[in-house]
Amino acid sequence: MVNFNNDFLVKEIKRRLSIINLIEGYTSIKKTGKGYVGLCPFHDDHNPSMYVDEEKGLFHCFSCGAGGDMLGFYMRYNGLTFPEAVSDLAKRANITIEKSSTPVKGHSRINNLFKLNAAVSRFYHRALLESPNGGPAREYLEKRKIPPGVIEEFKLGYAPDGWDALVKFLKKNNIPASLAENLGLIVKKQSGDGYYDRFRNRIVFPICSVEGKVIGFGGRRIKESDEPKYINSPESEIYHKRKNFYGLDSSKDHIRKNKRAIIVEGYTDFLALFSAGVKNAVATLGTSLTRDHVVTLRRYTDRIVVVFDGDESGVKAAVRSLDIFLEEGLLPGVVILPEGNDPDSFLAERGAEAFYKLIDEAPTLLDFYIDNTVNEYRNGAVTLNSGVKEIADVLVKVNEPVLRSSYIKKTAEKLGLGENEVMSLVRLGKGHGKMGGVKTVKSHSNHEKLMLNILLTYPDLSGVVAAEDWEECVSNRDVKSILEEIIVKGVHDMSSLLLSFQGSGAQGLISEALMSSPGIPDRDTAGKMIMSCMKKLKQAKLDERLKSLRLGISDAVKNKDAELEKRLLTEYTDLRKQK
Ligand code: GTP
Ligand code: MN
Repeated sequence: MVNFNNDFLVKEIKRRLSIINLIEGYTSIKKTGKGYVGLCPFHDDHNPSMYVDEEKGLFHCFSCGAGGDMLGFYMRYNGLTFPEAVSDLAKRANITIEKSSTPVKGHSRINNLFKLNAAVSRFYHRALLESPNGGPAREYLEKRKIPPGVIEEFKLGYAPDGWDALVKFLKKNNIPASLAENLGLIVKKQSGDGYYDRFRNRIVFPICSVEGKVIGFGGRRIKESDEPKYINSPESEIYHKRKNFYGLDSSKDHIRKNKRAIIVEGYTDFLALFSAGVKNAVATLGTSLTRDHVVTLRRYTDRIVVVFDGDESGVKAAVRSLDIFLEEGLLPGVVILPEGNDPDSFLAERGAEAFYKLIDEAPTLLDFYIDNTVNEYRNGAVTLNSGVKEIADVLVKVNEPVLRSSYIKKTAEKLGLGENEVMSLVRLGKGHGKMGGVKTVKSHSNHEKLMLNILLTYPDLSGVVAAEDWEECVSNRDVKSILEEIIVKGVHDMSSLLLSFQGSGAQGLISEALMSSPGIPDRDTAGKMIMSCMKKLKQAKLDERLKSLRLGISDAVKNKDAELEKRLLTEYTDLRKQK
């Protein structure tokens, strides 16, 4: 019997299916000289800018940068996870994966955890609909205007009062208590044997993975005197609150259709929106937004609006989330609701139209952040100096040069400063005088990309680069992570390399490099080219540092900061000598 592992399966899929046929199913492509070209489905394309290379098995859009192999295309187009895409395409390629032949370690255990959650979810749901003691729970949901259709769609439930309703249910169905304990559904009694229910007398919100499997639960109190207001499943093998959203399994199609996602903070906010017909939302699970969240969501759209409650903590949360988005190269819109409102109460008071208006008119999170800091300066909460430095530290992270300079201009206007003053701070980056804070974007990205290109063609040259200080000199995060796979982890075959970056923007870089081959004549030349790239990158790094030091020094002189001036000067002279 064949033992399919992912790697094998992917190769087999690629062997049996043609990337041309696959892509033709979604957008029309035409044969050109070397390959195929068509309208890119991943941006609003008017001139065919997506190229498909059958031999290399890659597609790449030279306008928006989307690219990768056929799995990458399929995942991206359909908003699927990698396993989902593999399973779909395996079916299409007529590869039958025999169940018994995939005894992936821990697989059956994980399956059992999912099964358990599904059973528990049904138990709570039935208790809500049918149990005689569920009256107050049903009334509670009615009072909160959650319609029966939504209760049904999201399988809302009721965790009965008392201590052992679930414990008894598990026993009756011969489900091992240890499994349920692992998922935090029941808790071991401190004294003596046995377990008690974690969720008691609460409305239960089953939390699903994108594939729609129940991974955890949230439980809201029904009696206002119970504490705390919410109890959530603890982290487990299958529940990661920093990665998952509430509602995404239902809203993903709406998000794709709408080309926009709305992030709110609570289960009830999500359900209120959904009930009001705003179906392209997701809710975080009682944590602040993480980078993993953003990575998850951007599979469906890169237009995101975050909605925060109209209170001080809402503003703080908005500010905190800015870095996460910028690091992912996204700039979302932000809505801070009127004071005292959350999405649920806002909808109840003002309706869906008013909510959509807020979403449509949402300023970018960066505009919001700048205005917020400018206000802090105006009302004396921060000094001009620290205010502008704070903003500059954020603007450093804006990767788009045009966007960045427009924000530099805005900031300067709002603070009554010269554009150059703000710009020099942005150039200097975080912490005056600290090494490595400066990122001048794109100026040497060509050399970085060329180096990537050479290594993709001649991965065995990675030893040459490994001996150098390459990590210091490469500033593009994606290029760096690809180089890391090749140089450090020794991944030298393209198929495995693409596999490591399924669903990430790095795939686009790989396809771009491979498809815009600059024609490296032979390995010897490649070796020389790579050394010259390294040299140029190092030089550029040094020049950049010298430039920012010069700016820092003139700033220090202006501010009469003799100590800083001295420190920067010393560094400057040392570096000059090195050069
Ligand atoms: P309602 O009061 O039912 O409308 O909920 P809400 O969503 O308006 O509550 P809030 O804004 O206070 O909380 C937002 C989210 O934070 C909730 O959906 C929970 O995920 C989480 N949360 C709120 N309170 C608690 C709590 O006491 N414990 C835990 N663990 N999480 C909480
Ligand atoms: Mn609320």
